Formats: sequence, structure tokens, C-alpha cells
Amino acid sequence: MTERLTGGAPLGLPMEVTAPGLPARVRIHEVGPRDGLQNEKMVVPVEVKADFIRRLADAGLSTVEATSFVRPEWVPQLADAEQLMPMLEDVDARLPVLVPNQRGLSRALALGVREIAVFASATESFAKANLNRTVDESLAMFAPVVTDAKEAGARVRGYVSMCFGDPWEGPVPVAQVVRVCRALVDMGCDELSLGDTIGVATPGHVLELLSLLGESGVGADRLAVHFHDTYGQALANTLAALQHGVTVVDASAGGLGGCPYAKSATGNLATEDLVWMLHGLGIETGVDLGRLTATSVWMAAHLGRPSPSRTVRALAGTTSQQEQ
Ligand code: HMG
Ligand code: MG
Repeated sequence: MTERLTGGAPLGLPMEVTAPGLPARVRIHEVGPRDGLQNEKMVVPVEVKADFIRRLADAGLSTVEATSFVRPEWVPQLADAEQLMPMLEDVDARLPVLVPNQRGLSRALALGVREIAVFASATESFAKANLNRTVDESLAMFAPVVTDAKEAGARVRGYVSMCFGDPWEGPVPVAQVVRVCRALVDMGCDELSLGDTIGVATPGHVLELLSLLGESGVGADRLAVHFHDTYGQALANTLAALQHGVTVVDASAGGLGGCPYAKSATGNLATEDLVWMLHGLGIETGVDLGRLTATSVWMAAHLGRPSPSRTVRALAGTTSQQEQ
């Protein structure tokens, strides 16, 4: 298919044409093994997970979110965190993990984890569905986790879900999002990731949130963006965030993902689609797109269905077969 589209010239890489006002380098925070696999019906064997993470690191991803230390009954797909982490000791990447509470933190620290993420919600409905807590109860649950993690020398990321819309509550007032972000920064989070959990954001909305956060003292240097691609807006939203100065972007290899507690959430922005855009803009990522694509094709075979990523499908030459 690639050959048919390009008249025979193989296009394994985008043509590089820079654009003004963009960063020289972006750090991709790869979430496939966590945000992707937590949403799969099948539990992927722990050896396959370890191989997946190793392959992602070998493809040049410097940060790979590995798993979650949540209550295993809530996310059985990631209940093997204790088996997985020791298998990754020689992986050359930062390997953050999700931790909701002090029980999760002690499990993670006992395994030598150096980087954790707490995960708040901008809305009451999702806080209840995902954490069995109100927004304020969940912030109170995170405060000692952040303090203790930092005392133990760990880096802490704070996620905020439902920043742009909520499947139960509809539109989410920006001020409500800013309040939760501010609370996480005041607690000591080193970085915030703004989640469009159900993929409804559009670029103007992204810019409005980023500028209100800036006015409240949370600058782009502390922010990451986490887009889901439900309405095909993830790359447009990412570009808007980059133009605003954000340099950390979450993405999921092959577009794996969703969220088990937000049924309308489809896949995350696919890492390959992101890398194609960034490399086309001359932005460094350190990622080898060919190796990354091969990893997603390999993972798709394990999961028994093709990757939804346009870039994976184009590079793997499967677009025509799937669309016939
Ligand atoms: P709960 O049911 O209220 O639990 O869950 P609890 O606090 O009442 O504790 C009950 C029992 O669970 C206790 O045991 C605890 O020790 C145990 P008992 O004393 O009865 O024997 N327990 C644990 N065991 C192991 N590890 C733990 C743990 N915690 C408690 N960490 C809780 C509350 C927060 C734990 C639960 O709601 C939970 O685990 N939620 C996590 C759900 C989740 O992982 N969701 C997906 C991630 S969020 C996401 O994907 C969004 C994101 O991608 C960004 C975006 O897209 O927006 C990040
Ligand atoms: Mg997510």
C-alpha cells in the first residue's frame, strides 16, 4: 500500500519541514503497557509485558509507564506488578508506575520504583468511578503519598483526568480543572499530565486550559498532555500544546488503550502517529519509528487484532488489506 500511495518511493519517514514556535525536542511518556494493557479484556502474560516494555525502551522511548500498584480487584489486567517490575531491572528507561494510596506506594517502593504517578479527577463522577472517593477525598488520599514518595527520593507525576469533558457530567468548567491541578502542584507533584480521558478536546479548549493554568502559576514547563483520539483530535490538540510550550507528550504504542472506568474512552494517541508528526516537524524524540512500529505489530499479533494507528498501518503496509 505504501508503494501504491507514493508511486513506488518508499516513505518510511516523513519529510522534515520545520515550523516556527515549536520545541526542538519532546519527551514522549509512553503509556501503552499501563494505559493500554489495563483496558484489554485478556490478561497479557507477564513475560509478554516485560518483552513489550523492553522493546519500547530499545526503540528509544526514554519513559515507559510500566504498570499500576492499584487494588488488584479493580484492575486485574495489571495485578502482576510484583512479578513484572523485577523482570525490568536491566531496562534502560525511566519506568514510572501508578499509585493511588499509601498501600500502593509501599508496594512500589519495596520493588525499588523511582518514579510514581497519582491520578486525580477533575470531576466527581470519575473520582467516584475510578477511586471510590470524592475529588477532595482523593486529593486527601494522595497528599501523604506525594510527601512520602518525595521523602523516599521518588519523582511524582500527578494525572488529572476528565480535563475537557466527562461522560457523566458533560462539559467540565476549566476553573474546576485548574483547582485540582493547583492542589496537586501544592502537594509537591513535579509534573502534571492533563488527561482528555474521553478524547473530546479541541485545540482552542486546550489553549484556554493551558493559559488559565499559566495564570494560576502552573507553567508549561511542569505540564504534560495526555490525549485520547476518540474524535480524531489528539494530534491537533498536541500541536496546540507544543505551540504553547509543552514538551512532554503522553502516547501509547499502536494506539492501545482506553480506561476501564470510562467506557467511552477509546485509544490513546498512538505513539507512532505522534512520532511521525514530530519528526516531520524536525522535533527530536530519540525514537526509532521502524523499531517502534515493529513492536506494535508484534503486540497486535499477541492481542489478536490490528493496531488502530494510521502510521502503524501505513508503515506495516496493511492499510489496503484492512480496508478492502
Ligand atoms: P477501595 O475499594 O475503596 O479500597 O478502592 P479501600 O481503600 O477501601 O481498601 C480496601 C482493601 O483494598 C484493603 O484491604 C486495602 O488494603 C486494599 P483489606 O484491609 O480489606 O484486606 N487495597 C489495596 N491492595 C493493594 N494495593 C493497593 C490497595 N489499596 C487498597 N494499592 C482504590 C480504592 C483507590 C484502591 C481503588 O479505587 C483503585 O485501586 N482504583 C484504581 C483504578 C485504576 O487503576 N484506574 C485506571 C487508572 S486511571 C486512568 O487510566 C486515567 C489516566 O490514564 C489519565 C486519563 O486518561 O485521564 C491516568
Ligand atoms: Mg489515559
